[in-house]
Amino acid sequence: MITNRTFTMLKPDSVEKGNIGAILEKINAAGFRIVAMKLTHMTQRDAEAFYAIHKERPFFGELVQYMTRGPIVAAILEKDNAVEDFRALIGATNPAEAAEGTIRKLYATSISENAVHGSDSDENAAIEGAFHFATREMF
Ligand code: CMP
Repeated sequence: MITNRTFTMLKPDSVEKGNIGAILEKINAAGFRIVAMKLTHMTQRDAEAFYAIHKERPFFGELVQYMTRGPIVAAILEKDNAVEDFRALIGATNPAEAAEGTIRKLYATSISENAVHGSDSDENAAIEGAFHFATREMF
């Protein structure tokens, strides 16, 4: 079991606003190595599957619409303690509650359009990375 990788998406709002470069710079400056990365456009089916855990939540439809309205950047990142350190780097889900200097504090506008995704566990990092990348692209 790999325990030092996490998975991220720079969501459609980050791509639309031209924030890809600035966000990747922060990710690199924090010591993460990019293991795999691509610009991709999730279909409705992709987003419904990726966020299946949220399908009963009232915001599910809005979430799928948001995540499919334009391209995203999907990436697998490597660092010691990657999952926890990356969640600290991006800040709270709601940017209004995110700490100063975090990616969401700097670049997110609302709890729904919150600029970036970060896996919440090693297990989900592996599942989410596999969702977006064929195994051979990860090495
Ligand atoms: P993330 O934590 O990456 O994955 C689930 C996403 O659902 C979350 O980011 C937000 O984009 C969205 N989300 C979470 N809570 C809400 C909410 N209360 N209202 C709308 N969208 C939400």
